[in-house]
Amino acid sequence: MLLHLSTWQEVDDYLERSRALIVPIGSTEQHGPNGLLGTDALCPEIIAKHAAEKADMLVAPTFNVGCAQHHLAFSGSITLRPSTMIAAMIDWTTSLERHGFERIYWFNGHGGNIATIEAAFAEKYAERSFSRDRRNSDLRLKLRNWWELPDVGAFCAKTFPVGEGSHATASEVSVTYAAYPEAVKQVEMSPKIAPAGTFRDANHFRAQFPDGRIGSDPSQATPEIGQNIINVAADALIQEFRSFADED
Ligand code: NI
Repeated sequence: MLLHLSTWQEVDDYLERSRALIVPIGSTEQHGPNGLLGTDALCPEIIAKHAAEKADMLVAPTFNVGCAQHHLAFSGSITLRPSTMIAAMIDWTTSLERHGFERIYWFNGHGGNIATIEAAFAEKYAERSFSRDRRNSDLRLKLRNWWELPDVGAFCAKTFPVGEGSHATASEVSVTYAAYPEAVKQVEMSPKIAPAGTFRDANHFRAQFPDGRIGSDPSQATPEIGQNIINVAADALIQEFRSFADED
């Protein structure tokens, strides 16, 4: 069940059954020569939608711009500064909390978001701790990176033993190709496997990684592989979301 395609009465009904929902969260940033700018937002969204077709779970709209300052030397990339993202995440959370949601599962697609998501959780918990209201709801926030769901990392590593990389990975490009086969691009990668390393700001990133990839060869990506990853990830997501929803 998708929140943005539901009526308020349907959300009321869902709240009778469950106090948990998923918020896909990602980024809009360059993903190399054959990857879509939306990749990091699309991957968690695609997996969550697939899971929600198989199980009773509510999926919020995708929080689709994150912390991507280091990609700004590539056209189309958009970023929030960390303080803006924290403020926006707290407003989303507080809105949902008001309706009675108590388990919010942030399903992340971008490594560069992790520190800021955790900071947002800490801010939200601090806000509650400062309040003298003892009738606070039992709010719990959880972060899960899609590629770290049980079985998913191993499946991706087995599928792409060489050239998976850490940005514009063969796996994430495959997931987007499965959902959007019209977006498949055949691009010769040069070098075949991109350099690996660290980065600071946007200009430094572009100097280190001229075509945007880090350590990857995403020309291996196919829609068929992407669908297999989606299936493995959606099953793991359903299980983990259910146990989070039922937590005491
Ligand atoms: Ni990515």
